[in-house]
Amino acid sequence: SSLSPTVLVIFGAAGDLAWRKIAPALYSLSAEGWLPEKFAIIGVDRKEMTKEEFIGHLRSGVESFCRRKLDEASWSTFAASLSQYHSGDLTHPDTFEVLAKAIGDFRQQWGGAANPVFYLATSPTLIEAIATGLGKAGLGRNIPGSRIVVEKPFGRDLASAQALNRSLAEVFAEKQIFRIDHYLGKETVQNILALRFGNAWFEPIWDRRYIDSVQITVAETIGVEQRGGYYEHAGALRDMVQNHLFQLLCIVAMEPPVSFEAEEVRNKKTDVLHAIRPFPTEAVHRLAVRGQYGAGWVHGQHVPAYRSEPDVSPDSKMESFVALKVFVDNWRWQDVPFYLRTGKRMAQRVSQIVINLRPVPHQAFPEIAVDQWHPNRMILHIQPKESILLNFQAKRPGPTIRLTPVDLHFSYPDAFKTESPEAYETLLRDVILGDGTLFMRADQVEAAWSLVDPILQVWESNPPTDFPNYSAGSWGPEAAQVLIARDGKSWFEG
Ligand code: BG6
Repeated sequence: SSLSPTVLVIFGAAGDLAWRKIAPALYSLSAEGWLPEKFAIIGVDRKEMTKEEFIGHLRSGVESFCRRKLDEASWSTFAASLSQYHSGDLTHPDTFEVLAKAIGDFRQQWGGAANPVFYLATSPTLIEAIATGLGKAGLGRNIPGSRIVVEKPFGRDLASAQALNRSLAEVFAEKQIFRIDHYLGKETVQNILALRFGNAWFEPIWDRRYIDSVQITVAETIGVEQRGGYYEHAGALRDMVQNHLFQLLCIVAMEPPVSFEAEEVRNKKTDVLHAIRPFPTEAVHRLAVRGQYGAGWVHGQHVPAYRSEPDVSPDSKMESFVALKVFVDNWRWQDVPFYLRTGKRMAQRVSQIVINLRPVPHQAFPEIAVDQWHPNRMILHIQPKESILLNFQAKRPGPTIRLTPVDLHFSYPDAFKTESPEAYETLLRDVILGDGTLFMRADQVEAAWSLVDPILQVWESNPPTDFPNYSAGSWGPEAAQVLIARDGKSWFEG
């Protein structure tokens, strides 16, 4: 391949993310020939391991989590790139000296080029120290091909995100910084851009003249699992809305880009964030709903309340559900409500965007001729279904006129007969290519935090008194139904 020679350094290489996501994604890319010919991986972690143990550990991750079955030939090709493992303090100067030397050696061995990519699969508390260490070791912006990849959470409010951006900017140029929001790597999320901007069908009606409202749902059936320690300081607003849901909103609402160049696409998305109507303190109770799950039944299994999960306080005030009503104040979207909701332990795992059109301007068919009246809608299924559905009225066969809603259905797996890559495969390949289109720029992250901050403040100074307020296995608290019912609408659950 023509990809530049790359040394991928994984900080936190013995951790969960490297095991579950990064190694399986890299193995897939390798098996499909998407990695550079000259490619080496260096693992760094506090944990003591030999290189052989490290390779064995990643192999077990690939065996358990990779979408493709491990085959020995592909594995040995990939394993050959697992070239070093260093155990040590991730922020100690020695660690960076060792890395600088290793990268220098590869550069020599490969005839002059070795782009270092530093993947921080670590606790967010280490980001600043690692970046500083890299800078001091001369591994930052002075190597033009050098890159740093950081995971969410990126800060916990506007001030901390700004501080983090400032420290990263001391060491790396913005173009070298890759902030991950894994939703952007999802195939069906990228397909929304294809749908909107690769077709003539949809864009002409994609505005306030034809669209009545938009619903974005990211519902999970899992609970907080083993991440109570993290989640108790995060909650659904920080964990899901500030990043994933706002990014979905941006993709649905953005103006057509002039090109698919990274800055252009990100500019258009940032415009949406800037156009979102801020949540005034006194309106938070009307526009935002929070919830926390109690015990209940999910898929026939009894599951505990959030407050009984490991590492969660028995009187925790943290939200595991959020619903928001959002307006985008610009020409295209003035007065079109966007309803967002996300939660853990909900009735179904479903991520979908529902575009509800306005009613026809004049109903010529008599009421009696219409089986079920609702305006047209489009559903973009992101997961687990990967499909697009257009719902419209059709005539029932028979001598009289009778209308009934029908679906036009596009299924990703049926149409292409191939499995979609995991988000991390797409994102890792883009990092190696140096393409930042699907990554969060500093200003996007900050704009998203500045929208979320006032809600966080109101919620923190007014602790909830009704938690838990929804049962595991339901569609969330009553108040979320009220939020949308006030506008004479309801959540689409289909
Ligand atoms: C992560 C959140 O960013 O996204 C998790 O931290 C959440 O809490 C996950 O479960 C959902 O991702 P996906 O890809 O399973 O929808």
